[in-house]
Amino acid sequence: MKGIILAGGKGTRLYPMTKAVSKQLLPIYDKPLVYYPISVLLLAGIKDILIISTPADIGDYKDLLGDGSKLGVNFQYKIQDKPRGLADAFIVGEEFIGDDNVCLVLGDNVFYGQDLTKILNESKRQIDEVGGAMVFGYPVKDATAFGVVEFDKDNNVISIEEKPEKPKSNFAVPGLYFYDNNVIEIAKNVKPSARGEIEITSVNNAYLEASRLKVALMKRGMAWLDTGSPEGMLKAAEFVEAVQARQGFYIACLEEIVWRRGFIDDDQLRAIGEELSMTEYGKYLLSLL
Ligand code: TTP
Repeated sequence: MKGIILAGGKGTRLYPMTKAVSKQLLPIYDKPLVYYPISVLLLAGIKDILIISTPADIGDYKDLLGDGSKLGVNFQYKIQDKPRGLADAFIVGEEFIGDDNVCLVLGDNVFYGQDLTKILNESKRQIDEVGGAMVFGYPVKDATAFGVVEFDKDNNVISIEEKPEKPKSNFAVPGLYFYDNNVIEIAKNVKPSARGEIEITSVNNAYLEASRLKVALMKRGMAWLDTGSPEGMLKAAEFVEAVQARQGFYIACLEEIVWRRGFIDDDQLRAIGEELSMTEYGKYLLSLL
């Protein structure tokens, strides 16, 4: 399975912070925002990762992440010339995806929780074995800004609505999606919505109509944090700081994840830790050894 990080967009809600800097490069406490969605792909064991961003910003991602060899993975890059919508990821990424299945994570989504690795690995296995699509439902107080899942009394999904004025449930669809290879053709056939975007909700509804969509519910023990507004960014940073300070375990430490998975060895981890040893982040890496 391949992985895609969608890290373009305009980030208008964060202006002026994002006038000259891509939103997903802004810090969440001690690391760039994009580390958090990348960590999700790495936890799923996905090593081939495409970063999609704007013509102005793609170079910054290359500077930050390189070709991935230091992490024992493969990062590739592709430009999205305009923010055409989330489903455009599969059109921009067509060549990269090839004949594979794919997991998409939005570059500004932060996930953290006890069952995360289990959920990711099960979703990947499910799509690789039986195909179709797997998305999630996450309870939020106000679902009007999201794709919203409607269930019948037996918990079957009956609809997914994009940004409904009157949500039919409080389950929003977070920016983490698993699809079989059909997603490329499905995305190509999606018509732009009233706001002119090709919506991921339309892709999900195509799978739903074909009875090929699974929606797994994320429970309250899972943190899905919004980083699209200044307040959301601050709260996410406070969350990361609190967990890391209390437990001593880092959230979304890419080097730790790839080391634990055996993508890099002790010497490679030590080399990165020594390079960063002036920071708490570097000291943390060295402490793992
Ligand atoms: P949004 O939050 O919908 O858009 P945005 O990041 O441009 O922010 P704002 O609403 O403040 O203008 O995007 C969700 C994520 O997907 C975010 O990480 C940016 C990314 N994205 C793209 O890379 N390409 C796109 O075409 C769109 C719509 C979003």
